[in-house]
Amino acid sequence: MRSDPQAMDADALMARARECLGRAYAPYSRFQVAAAVIDDRGRVFTGVNVENISYGLSMCAERVAIFAAIAAGGRSIVALAVTSSGADLLSPCGACRQVLAEFAAADVPIYCDADGKTQRRTVAQLLPEGFAASKLRKD
Ligand code: THU
Repeated sequence: MRSDPQAMDADALMARARECLGRAYAPYSRFQVAAAVIDDRGRVFTGVNVENISYGLSMCAERVAIFAAIAAGGRSIVALAVTSSGADLLSPCGACRQVLAEFAAADVPIYCDADGKTQRRTVAQLLPEGFAASKLRKD
């Protein structure tokens, strides 16, 4: 196990996301998205968007990657990279930001691809004043 799970650099993590962009299932939007996350054990999990003819059932790449990490026993996410087939900056949707906040600390880096150029954000920047467990209970 690596001592610093976040050790993989942004470019390497983005490369892992880009590798699986072609596996996106996006026949309706024709907008491919791919994500890669590092979990608390230093393992990388990838995801792509998976659409459905009942459009509302479609799932974003970020959540596929996060859920894969959690299903494999990871308990938290220490970095995420996301890319798309589009040229503009791809930054996670609102639902994915809330899911990220469930599993990633405020300072976790989120690498977003803008036409081949990687931009860094944090979870706190993406979801300021988000709903958190600390607001639900005081234990
Ligand atoms: N999509 C993602 O996978 N991640 C995002 O952060 C934004 C949107 C997907 C959902 C849908 O399959 C397609 O992109 C167009 O919205």
